[in-house]
Amino acid sequence: MRSMTALADNAAPPPDHQGPPASDSAFAHDLVAALAARPRSISPKYFYDARGSQLFERICELPEYYPTRTELDILRTHARELAALMGPRAEIVEFGAGSLRKVRLLLDAMERPARYLPIDISGEHLAQAAAALQRDYAGLEVQPVTADYTQRLLLPARLPGAGQRVGFFPGSTIGNFTPAEALQFLGAAAQVLRGGALLLGADLVKDPAVLHAAYNDAQGVTAEFNLNLLARANRELGASFVLEQFAHSAFYNAPWQRIEMHLVSRCRQQVSVGRRSFQIEEGETLHTEHSHKFTVAGLHELARRAGFRPGPVWTDEQRLFSVHWLQAPQEGDAA
Ligand code: AVI
Repeated sequence: MRSMTALADNAAPPPDHQGPPASDSAFAHDLVAALAARPRSISPKYFYDARGSQLFERICELPEYYPTRTELDILRTHARELAALMGPRAEIVEFGAGSLRKVRLLLDAMERPARYLPIDISGEHLAQAAAALQRDYAGLEVQPVTADYTQRLLLPARLPGAGQRVGFFPGSTIGNFTPAEALQFLGAAAQVLRGGALLLGADLVKDPAVLHAAYNDAQGVTAEFNLNLLARANRELGASFVLEQFAHSAFYNAPWQRIEMHLVSRCRQQVSVGRRSFQIEEGETLHTEHSHKFTVAGLHELARRAGFRPGPVWTDEQRLFSVHWLQAPQEGDAA
């Protein structure tokens, strides 16, 4: 396992430093904090500006990146069974709305779905995706909710006469949380989904060579996705990262059952973000993402601790990926 070494940063800019004024955005704040911290680590949520989202869409199509197509196959194969579990007039709450491709498989199979509530932090992207879905499902109420679902989950009141409320969290995004964050998110989801259920996609532990290939694709799209974090900092914050001086690194950390993505400094260098300047030594890294992999038993244990009762699980033949039906507490159950 690669370790991240501590390094010294210069809090004061060098005398000739002419950086732009420090931005007060959350990204600026978190990036400066990450560069000053030991070890250096930043939330993967900053991957997803417009360029990062495009690159992620390309990753999902890569031959090495099995999760998207495998999960789609599982949902397609078991759509009728899923629809039966959801029941008539159910409403779907999707945590983080991507292309909305996966939810279509559910909506197509469901009996008179009542409402679809996609929650996403990016209001513009969400509005576009929701409008496209609304055009295709005229009878469905599509109500986008612009919010950070990792912070606080507040949902509109239930529709009178609607069936159960089913959360949908596909793509194994749960794996990008730390275990503590995953527990916190699932605990909050169990509360807002009371009386209903959560349909959760989770990537499975497997041969590290398969995982390695998925995060080190031959075309270098994942590397570009990782490096886009620095490109974004240059674009949005006027940071001074020279992209060629950083290398993409992704490896499986077996004890933690996770892929780790890092950006490794290829040389000793100085970088600035706003008015702050940092020295980075050759080989030092910025940790950009965890992607945890699960066993079915491990995922069930996590779900139980969050208040869910595990139900059916579907996997593909090679057991690459899993989709879980997790029953939320009943309305009258203690919180
Ligand atoms: C969004 N998330 C589940 C992806 C993953 O596999 O952890 C993000 C990703 N990172 C590199 N490739 C894809």
